[in-house]
Amino acid sequence: HHIESALFVIFGATGDLARRKLFPALYNLSAEGILPSGVAIVGVGRRPFDLAYFREKFILPALLDNSRLAGNLLHNFSSFAQRCYYFSLDLRDSSRYRELKNFLDQLDWEWGVQGNRVFYLALAPELFGPVVANLKEQGFLDKGPRSWKRVLVEKPFGWDLDSARALNRELTQAFPEEDIYRIDHYLGKEMIQNIMVIRFANAFFEPVWNNKYIDHIQITSSEKIGVGERAAYYDRAGALRDMLQNHMLQLVALIAMEPPVGLDAQAIRLEKAKVFRSLQPFTRERILQDIVRGQYGPGYIDGEPVPGYREEAGIPADSVTETFLAVKLFVNTFRWAGVPFYLRTGKRLPAKVTEIIIQFKPLPEILYFKEYGELLPNVLVIRVQPLEGIFVQLNAKRPGTNNYIVPIRLDFCQNCGVGTNSPEAYERLLYDALRGDATLFTGWEEVEYAWKFVDPIAQAWATIPVHFPNYAAGEWGPPEARVLIERDGRRWWESP
Ligand code: BG6
Repeated sequence: HHIESALFVIFGATGDLARRKLFPALYNLSAEGILPSGVAIVGVGRRPFDLAYFREKFILPALLDNSRLAGNLLHNFSSFAQRCYYFSLDLRDSSRYRELKNFLDQLDWEWGVQGNRVFYLALAPELFGPVVANLKEQGFLDKGPRSWKRVLVEKPFGWDLDSARALNRELTQAFPEEDIYRIDHYLGKEMIQNIMVIRFANAFFEPVWNNKYIDHIQITSSEKIGVGERAAYYDRAGALRDMLQNHMLQLVALIAMEPPVGLDAQAIRLEKAKVFRSLQPFTRERILQDIVRGQYGPGYIDGEPVPGYREEAGIPADSVTETFLAVKLFVNTFRWAGVPFYLRTGKRLPAKVTEIIIQFKPLPEILYFKEYGELLPNVLVIRVQPLEGIFVQLNAKRPGTNNYIVPIRLDFCQNCGVGTNSPEAYERLLYDALRGDATLFTGWEEVEYAWKFVDPIAQAWATIPVHFPNYAAGEWGPPEARVLIERDGRRWWESP
């Protein structure tokens, strides 16, 4: 894979995602000298910006607020700005796509791009269909001899299986599967990319990575923020669709998958899809027993009072959308049968943390046990954010004359040292899309099976009454979330 020149076309260029993530990521790649000089960026949006305004009043503030390299802006902004263009278009107005095409063709010629295109749909999914249909019908996708066209799509990839299938049909009418890059930005995070390396490049873990030695897995992805300004989207999605269907299940897949036959996208997707297929389906009974949903009420975050979910702007006063979810699930494969995976995610929780905990089974209490001190289980923690690293908990002898045992920790922190500044997920993902590497993107089969798993939960919930709010902002979800794991004699891991 290497990057050629290309036009990187962003539909929805004046939206929140473009401002917070896409332009900052492209800028960072450019400032670090990674983005090849032949890549130009074209924003397409509804607003009638002229080019100078777009560069100075939209892109520049976006970078100042959101780029991890904002400190270098004085130095690097003008060369980045010169790559950026803007075209104002109402995306539902088919009659003006021809003009957009001419605009791109002109830039293509000026930049010597020879037809390569990335189309980034930073849009509400309702617009995917109309946009790709126009791209196809109006000749945007006609291929020259060696050129390529790729489409990047943001979540949500549908609201359920049916809508996801409809969306996929619209996309595949214009692009073959291998040119569709479905973003799950968690896959771009450093430590998540590291999961496969830790598993398959070390002799320690793989031999014991199964139900014989592993007691259970925990995955926590918590946030302090509330719904923010995304009421319209979030109130329809809830934590189940917003976090579990995609990010959390992707983490389960990376932890649970068999070693792939190679490191290409196809081989990895195949193994991940198998995990999704092996998820034990939820019956109504198990939904009641093994899934806890919650919604935050008023409370305190970092000592500051914050409103409850139902008081947030744009949220109906009787909303039953869940902002928290804890679930115990099983991967029914030979490797994992009987090993519970406890997952929890939510908004307005006490900390912003994403961590994966692999807890090993205890040894028989024959030689060392209670009287030698409290033996803690062996634990491997993969820290995804905000700290990035790996943590291992072992038992060892305390120095001295008694045989007293104490827990010790091997703690590797990747981003603790001064000056480490990990690239953000989007940098890696946009770069990979430009070079045609789809390994960190989600394949259709994974999406399909994830919805098959999630749909029955959403359907059952719709018929079961809930009493919300049931946790105060700043708590770790409702008390039932603790019960879910503690009734099995286990506990949620607290980061040391
Ligand atoms: C997004 C969700 O996909 O992930 C948001 O839509 C959530 O609701 C976000 O806040 C969390 O991402 P990160 O990278 O901050 O962990």
